[in-house]
Amino acid sequence: MDLSDEQKLLFASYREGDKQYQLAGGQEGCFKLANDFYDLMEELNETKHILSLHPNDLEESRDKLARFLCFYMNGPHLYQEKYGNIQLGAAHAHIPIGSKERDAWLLCMAKALEKQDWENSFKEFLFMRFQTPAHRIQNMP
Ligand code: HEM
Repeated sequence: MDLSDEQKLLFASYREGDKQYQLAGGQEGCFKLANDFYDLMEELNETKHILSLHPNDLEESRDKLARFLCFYMNGPHLYQEKYGNIQLGAAHAHIPIGSKERDAWLLCMAKALEKQDWENSFKEFLFMRFQTPAHRIQNMP
């Protein structure tokens, strides 16, 4: 994604302090994003194969992703408080994730972001940020 100078400045400002957490609506906003993400994973045909990698009961997956997102957006360390330290690569090492799974995860997140009542540039920034962990987590072609 090529960024204009204006976008570069704006995106740099999102990295200050807990700006992302605030723009996302804090804890409530992070939980809503995670819940919308997993609702969509259950609804969409394109994400059936990654849904099947999850436990049948998504309650803990929802809670883990929501708490992780709080930390990811420079908010409170809610994941660590409940579940301990996390390294995303290690946490996904037992899950077969190729480009198909990675792209389905990103599609699901793009659609979940669309549902949020946040400024568009902030959603674009977050989607850009998610590319890095999603590509790092991939562990097979
Ligand atoms: C690249 C595609 C990805 C796939 C297919 C995928 C799939 C999964 C699956 C199947 C689980 C296990 C759920 C469970 O056992 O409860 C999981 C856990 C998790 N995922 Fe992902 N994931 C992907 C990318 C990401 C990304 C990019 C993030 C964060 C930005 C993320 C955050 C998490 C977190 C926080 C957990 C909980 C880990 C734990 O506590 O064990 N995932 N993911």
